[in-house]
Amino acid sequence: MYHKIYGAYAPDHGKVVSRSERKREGYISSALTYGEVLFETFAELFKVVEERHGGMPEGGVFVDVGCGIGKPVFAAALLHNFRKCVGIEILEDLYKVCIECMKTYTHEVKPHLGEEKSSGLQFSVSLFLDPFDMAPFWRLP
Ligand SMILES: C[S@@+](CC[C@H](N)C(=O)[O-])C[C@H]1O[C@@H](n2cnc3c(N)ncnc32)[C@H](O)[C@@H]1O
Repeated sequence: MYHKIYGAYAPDHGKVVSRSERKREGYISSALTYGEVLFETFAELFKVVEERHGGMPEGGVFVDVGCGIGKPVFAAALLHNFRKCVGIEILEDLYKVCIECMKTYTHEVKPHLGEEKSSGLQFSVSLFLDPFDMAPFWRLP
């Protein structure tokens, strides 16, 4: 299922898109550096939570602040019965990839999921707590 969403992209697609937008727009902040959580690692994390803490309750909202091309958001939607999975991304080109993937998810993946596994998905292109705006506060005693 996950491969259906991302199979059409090169493994480094997010990195390439991110780098190109940052270069084009002249963004130099290291806060925008790109990297991804692997699906397998994410699945392992959910398994550990299951084994050590009896799993997560049904429902709830999964939020990835700085979601890149949305990999953890789709992984979360496939691995657990969240009521909603949300991705927030500051770079517009990465957000656009999320929207493309959302189309694939909606048309090719969601219809094959059980009722209980069909979390609502939502992506937004926005800035979550601009670290530069926050900087003066960090310097306060
Ligand atoms: C290390 S990547 C992680 C991508 C994704 N979570 C994953 O694991 O596949 C961090 C992402 O956060 C975004 N980002 C950084 N600061 C942000 C902010 N304040 N608001 C929204 N997105 C932000 C960057 O553009 C980048 O795409």
